[in-house]
Amino acid sequence: MVIGLFDSGTGGKTVEAEIKKLLPAARIIYLADTANFPYGDKSPAELKNICRANVQSLLAQGANLIVIACNTATAATIDYLRAEFSSLPIVGTEPSIKQACQSSSPDAQILLLATTSTARSSRTRELIQSYKLPAQTVTVQACPGLADAIEAQDMAKIDAILSALNNPPKQIETVVLGCTHYPLIHQEIQAYFPGARLIDGSPGVAREVARLAKTLKL
Ligand code: DGL
Repeated sequence: MVIGLFDSGTGGKTVEAEIKKLLPAARIIYLADTANFPYGDKSPAELKNICRANVQSLLAQGANLIVIACNTATAATIDYLRAEFSSLPIVGTEPSIKQACQSSSPDAQILLLATTSTARSSRTRELIQSYKLPAQTVTVQACPGLADAIEAQDMAKIDAILSALNNPPKQIETVVLGCTHYPLIHQEIQAYFPGARLIDGSPGVAREVARLAKTLKL
């Protein structure tokens, strides 16, 4: 089995690490598409071209399963990529809205942190509509520049962006990390939402990869 995994930069490392825990023997080709970083403020049309080229490159290197280790690219391109490469298993990364809603109180305030593109996407809206319980509130907060600051390991900028997030509301019960870069600063985000539970979707992506590997006998 050869997993071809891509992200705009280092964010996909959080997904790769979870896959390695479940499938230690799998070969993973990691494509960090830094030439096109950041994805978060690109249009869906631009992202489709970029991601098609990423998949082609990973296929040329022998991948037989693709992981889009990026929420932004998944929201904008997964339907398109599945249609373009119809016989190829493609696993995406989506904000863990389902897990957040199902594991929070019935009247919880849930906050989704994501890139501008993911925050605006219809898939994000649909996820919220599908899983939000009637008395829950799900607030979508775009964090422009945050993935860039994480990629550059610019702690001062990370701090400035987090501080500007409408002053962390104390009532937030659950924070969904809707960008694969964000778990890399789990501690810093937790410090801004000290009472909240942070949810990272990477373990779920890894479970789906393991399930497909078994079903498809890759
Ligand atoms: N890591 C990507 C995600 O999960 C986004 C980073 C970027 O803007 O390129 O959304």
